[in-house]
Amino acid sequence: MTKLDLLFKKALEVRQNAYAPYSGFKVGAAVLSQGDQIYVGANTENVSYPCGTCAEQSAICAMVANGEYKISDIVIVAQSKNLITPCGACLQRIAEFATTDTKIHLADISGIKKTYQLNDLMPVAFREDLEK
Ligand code: THU
Repeated sequence: MTKLDLLFKKALEVRQNAYAPYSGFKVGAAVLSQGDQIYVGANTENVSYPCGTCAEQSAICAMVANGEYKISDIVIVAQSKNLITPCGACLQRIAEFATTDTKIHLADISGIKKTYQLNDLMPVAFREDLEK
């Protein structure tokens, strides 16, 4: 099994644990760090809807909690009519820890369907060095 296959498998597995009673939409994410570790996350909703967290956010926080700050690859798994892309807020979260080599893999439950670089999905992420 390749590292990417394993990353997909982990994202698919963690998706099962998503807590999504309000939307009914389960999402799993798995991050491969530059340190070659895998961190997973699942969306976690709340009765106070805006308090919910996305799967990507959860996986990125797990990476940071382990003292790692660079994403090599991230796989996002959901099941819907159209392949999902990370929401705008999660693109900004990915941007914080991405490099020009970071790959964003979009998957449904049968496997990875598309791979992007951050620049494809968010060419002008907010950066604090923007000219004021
Ligand atoms: N969601 C994610 O976890 N990641 C995404 O990239 C898009 C949306 C979650 C948020 C919410 O719990 C549910 O999917 C429906 O929007």
